[in-house]
Amino acid sequence: MEHNSFKLHLVHLLCLLLLCPLVSCQLNYKFYDYTCPNLTKIVRSGVWSAMTNDSRMAASLLRLHFHDCFVNGCDGSLLLDGGEKNAFPNRNSTRGFEVIDDIKANLERACPATVSCTDILTLAAREAVYLSGGPYWFLPLGRRDGLTASESDANEQLPGFSEPLENITAKFTSKGLELKDVVVLSGAHTIGFAQCFTFKSRLFDFGGSGEPDPLLDTSLLTSLQSTCPNQDDSDTKLAPLDSASSSKFDNLYYKLLLNNSGLLQSDQALMGDNTTASLVLNYSKFPYLFSKDFGASMVKMANIGVLTGQNGEIRKNCRLVN
Ligand code: HEM
Ligand SMILES: *[C@@H]1O[C@H](CO)[C@@H](O)[C@H](O)[C@H]1NC(C)=O
Ligand SMILES: *[C@@H]1O[C@H](CO)[C@@H](O)[C@H](O)[C@H]1NC(C)=O
Ligand SMILES: *[C@@H]1O[C@H](CO)[C@@H](O)[C@H](O)[C@H]1NC(C)=O
Ligand SMILES: *[C@@H]1O[C@H](CO)[C@@H](O)[C@H](O)[C@H]1NC(C)=O
Ligand SMILES: *[C@@H]1O[C@H](CO)[C@@H](O)[C@H](O)[C@H]1NC(C)=O
Ligand SMILES: *[C@@H]1O[C@H](CO)[C@@H](O)[C@H](O)[C@H]1NC(C)=O
Ligand SMILES: *[C@@H]1O[C@H](CO)[C@@H](O)[C@H](O)[C@H]1NC(C)=O
Repeated sequence: MEHNSFKLHLVHLLCLLLLCPLVSCQLNYKFYDYTCPNLTKIVRSGVWSAMTNDSRMAASLLRLHFHDCFVNGCDGSLLLDGGEKNAFPNRNSTRGFEVIDDIKANLERACPATVSCTDILTLAAREAVYLSGGPYWFLPLGRRDGLTASESDANEQLPGFSEPLENITAKFTSKGLELKDVVVLSGAHTIGFAQCFTFKSRLFDFGGSGEPDPLLDTSLLTSLQSTCPNQDDSDTKLAPLDSASSSKFDNLYYKLLLNNSGLLQSDQALMGDNTTASLVLNYSKFPYLFSKDFGASMVKMANIGVLTGQNGEIRKNCRLVN
């Protein structure tokens, strides 16, 4: 039994070695089993220690992975200095780059020049969710790192906080995701924080009406108005995306949407369409259904536009091309 399974692994490995240069290789579940057996352990402990120091870090890492994948595919381009990082949705907003650098440094000691920055980020996002009390899912690996990063592509491809649902959905479908994935992946907003400027227009002068957004619960409104007073110097103050449980990965995000207590306009917009509202209701009632669907959608997202085989490279430093 042992022997047979070893032979199978060997055949698998040989196939990869022989075929990769010829055909474009697929991601697979055993990609680093021989070359970096402690990979998951090293990523998990890096994420864990970063979360111990800063409880918001799980959310920040999850968002980094999303922003990487949505701009020209999951290729670690967001991690490169000087490109996507400077785009409007990322600048002064994305965080956690040092955590990825630290994990990469540990991996370079354990298995030099082997693990891509893209796979590190993909795994870190999964560990972050799991260590926050959320689901776990299995990830095929073997993503390679891209060579370029475009600030303007990031500005065009990432969804905006006041974009209508149709536009956000169009951005998801252009990546091979569907309407359901918009609802499921928005559930990531069960952890983390947003700066006041991303929702302030809802608090004072919604759409030029001179009034707050009528789709915002009045007691949440009062509390947000005090966190984010109507003056520019409150723009970078923070409010939890999930005011009920901002560091636990659970389904309260959906319960809040039912109560008009979504923070971003794009969150509450999920209640403005019958199909998405029905999904919200289902996830609010069945946490297990949300966990299962979230894992499945994360795997889909992690497969967007990946580089495999001989494409791209394994970066030595996640901030620079080799
Ligand atoms: C559906 C469209 C989405 C929009 C419009 C959106 C927008 C935003 C905005 C404006 C923030 C606050 C950023 C800041 O204030 O600096 C935020 C935070 C966050 N987003 Fe999204 N997001 C979307 C989807 C997603 C998805 C798909 C994920 C992951 C799967 C995600 C994960 C997060 C997390 C975890 C945070 C908190 C980050 C932290 O605390 O550092 N978001 N999002
Ligand atoms: C994996 O980690 C264990 C300790 O956790 C260590 O004994 C072992 O040498 C490591 N293996 C490799 C290949 O680095
Ligand atoms: C701990 O987190 C803070 C931010 O909350 C950061 O400035 C600091 O560098 C982190 N320390 C370590 C050791 O990661
Ligand atoms: C980013 O943050 C820094 C320090 O908080 C601030 O000086 C700078 O104006 C901010 N830039 C933008 C574009 O918001
Ligand atoms: C939504 O998409 C349409 C069609 O692409 C575009 O004309 C419109 O400006 C977009 N709206 C926003 C708020 O981005
Ligand atoms: C939603 O509102 C109902 C009724 O006001 C309340 O009982 C419930 O606790 C609220 N749920 C959340 C998650 O705030
Ligand atoms: C959405 O639901 C409402 C109320 O249940 C119904 O009146 C409306 O026709 C539905 N809209 C669509 C497009 O199905
Ligand atoms: C929500 O759940 C109900 C019953 O469990 C199911 O009939 C319905 O199709 C679900 N809604 C969506 C949009 O999946």
